[in-house]
Amino acid sequence: MALPAIRWFATAVILVCLHIHLSSAIYCDEDDCYDILGVTQSANASEIKKAYYKLSLKYHPDKNPDPDSRKLFVKVANAYEILKDDATREQYDYAIAHPEEVFYNTARYYKAYYGHKTDARAVLVGLLLVLSAFQYLNQWTRYTQAISMVKKSPAYKNRLRGMQLERSGGMTNKKKAIKPKDMKMEEELSKELELQIKGAEKPSLWELLAIRFLLLPYTIGKLLLWSICWFWRYKVKKAPYTWDDARYMTQRCLRISLDAWRNIDGSTRDDLIQRRLWEKPNMEKYMVEMRKESKRRR
Ligand SMILES: *[C@@H]1O[C@H](CO)[C@@H](O)[C@H](O)[C@H]1NC(C)=O
Repeated sequence: MALPAIRWFATAVILVCLHIHLSSAIYCDEDDCYDILGVTQSANASEIKKAYYKLSLKYHPDKNPDPDSRKLFVKVANAYEILKDDATREQYDYAIAHPEEVFYNTARYYKAYYGHKTDARAVLVGLLLVLSAFQYLNQWTRYTQAISMVKKSPAYKNRLRGMQLERSGGMTNKKKAIKPKDMKMEEELSKELELQIKGAEKPSLWELLAIRFLLLPYTIGKLLLWSICWFWRYKVKKAPYTWDDARYMTQRCLRISLDAWRNIDGSTRDDLIQRRLWEKPNMEKYMVEMRKESKRRR
């Protein structure tokens, strides 16, 4: 199966991109901060300051019309930002002495430059995005696997053939290759089948962790409003339950999922709702009946 391979490939690409991004964008990019300022690594603070003033005057865009000087001016300012502070200079020295510790160096760099709070937020967002990407990929894999399994089943093949015969009025030649028109038909049929596949729902962007997280305030607000409405309507005003809410109550006190509920046949469902099982005596009566029923069957 090619799909797991695709998944691993995508993972590898994500990791490599992350690695490249992390290792190139910190400190003075590929340049050496000391080289940019034209000082040695052992230069003291006043030497660094002097070098910076000299270069920033030289490259200042007001004084230097050369378009490259603007870039150099920014580079010099950035290098000075790093080297003027003892703590960040020490971090930088460590980073050039230990280039293999990419992740540790990057973490320290971002911590120094964006502060604790932003760092935690950025990590959270990054984590959510990476997890969501995996989630989406995983959903797609499961979904396409389920589809291809169904398509291999004899029941699907029979139905496809049946549909072809029906539409062509029995004229389809078994040996003929599938015509473009038939391809369209197959597409339609597979759409229908997709609806039947259980346990592998079509990947939905709304289900992704990142989106869920973004929508959290909205979801909580909706739930709160719903609870208040419910309380007002049924607890304060003592209104009778609407059919839909009665269904919800029944489903909840029977502890079954919406899917399981939908699989129960219509008349049984209506009967269950009319029993008002959310009232304790009714539920007890129902339980007794069910026990008797199962004994009778045995
Ligand atoms: C820095 O180094 C220069 C030249 O080596 C020296 O003249 C100066 O006194 C030093 N400054 C400090 C603060 O150590």
